[in-house]
Amino acid sequence: MSIYNFSAGPAALPPGVKKQLKNELDDWRGTGTSVMEVSHRSPEFKALMADNESLLRSLLNISDDYAILLVPGGARLQYAMLPMNLSAPNRSTVYHVNGYWGFLAYQEAQKFSQVKTTNKPPTAPYQPQHSLGDYRVKDIDSSADYFHYTSNETLEGIQWHHLPDSNGLPLCCDMTSDIMTREIKVDDFAMIYASAQKNLGIAGLTLVIIRKDMLGKHQNNIPTLMDYATFEQHGSAYNTPPTFVWYMMYLVLQWYQQQGGVKTMQQLNQAKANKLYDFIDNSDFYSNRVDSAIRSEVNVPFWLADDKLNEQFLADSNDAGLKALKGHKAVGGMRASIYNAVPMAAIDALIEFMETFEKQHA
Ligand SMILES: Cc1ncc(COP(=O)(O)O)c(C=O)c1O
Repeated sequence: MSIYNFSAGPAALPPGVKKQLKNELDDWRGTGTSVMEVSHRSPEFKALMADNESLLRSLLNISDDYAILLVPGGARLQYAMLPMNLSAPNRSTVYHVNGYWGFLAYQEAQKFSQVKTTNKPPTAPYQPQHSLGDYRVKDIDSSADYFHYTSNETLEGIQWHHLPDSNGLPLCCDMTSDIMTREIKVDDFAMIYASAQKNLGIAGLTLVIIRKDMLGKHQNNIPTLMDYATFEQHGSAYNTPPTFVWYMMYLVLQWYQQQGGVKTMQQLNQAKANKLYDFIDNSDFYSNRVDSAIRSEVNVPFWLADDKLNEQFLADSNDAGLKALKGHKAVGGMRASIYNAVPMAAIDALIEFMETFEKQHA
């Protein structure tokens, strides 16, 4: 039986990656030892760092105007580092919130800057959102330091398919769940960040792509290891970096390149998502509540007509080799995360299972 992993993160790794890891475990790049035991100052590891950077630059077409930083920790650390570095407690920032992660980013940023929201500020406890959220561009404070949004809201399955209008403010984006899954124009952004455990390897690092003119702007003393300039000046290795996570990122990036790059990933992701949404839309038993214009191509939430069947659905799908389909507790229902490493065969297997389950329970 084939096993398919629909986890939202840590997510499935591309097929050849674990094999390569096994092959290289005892002798990585002729060092006679594993990558985990090699100094980050060694020529072999420095070469890997350079390879990683050039793969990232070529896959995302990142120009020299941008610094590429690999920051230990998750995307949620960036919720603090971003306002610490690009704003100040007496300055304002603008957050657009249209989902769970945007809401958390907005909450954290309030500790470090005067945060304004584009629309009515959301209040805790968090309420799931079903739209991109309207706002009036002319109401955006044009003196703010930046405009922040989340390109793909992983829980709700809501994705921006165009750029938000930031009224000219530098655009900063949490792309944790859709980086590398579709083509982007980096030049449209002042700063992009994405933690690694979905489409960049495994947990432990966050990719930060930042326009160099945004560096060194902070007005307060901030910890050395929370200052983007430290990462830029030291090739992201001021202190000992999580070398194994860098290596895993390299293997994943290399796989993308072999597949034909981000364009190929995008085409495949669109085809997978279309097939799954078509099936759901043509069923009375399953539904997706997101407007078709803003549906995510990588996280597909769906609901059963009868919630009482949820546990049965999860148990049976798990037995059928379809793993991690439970929706996030804040949203409920099911969710298939169909990132780059999830093949079309997984979508076919999921649809076949859903058809059978419907016949048995409708
Ligand atoms: C869009 C988005 N932002 C942020 C996060 C939080 O990431 P981390 O756990 O790396 O802090 C997630 C996690 O799923 C996410 O999907």
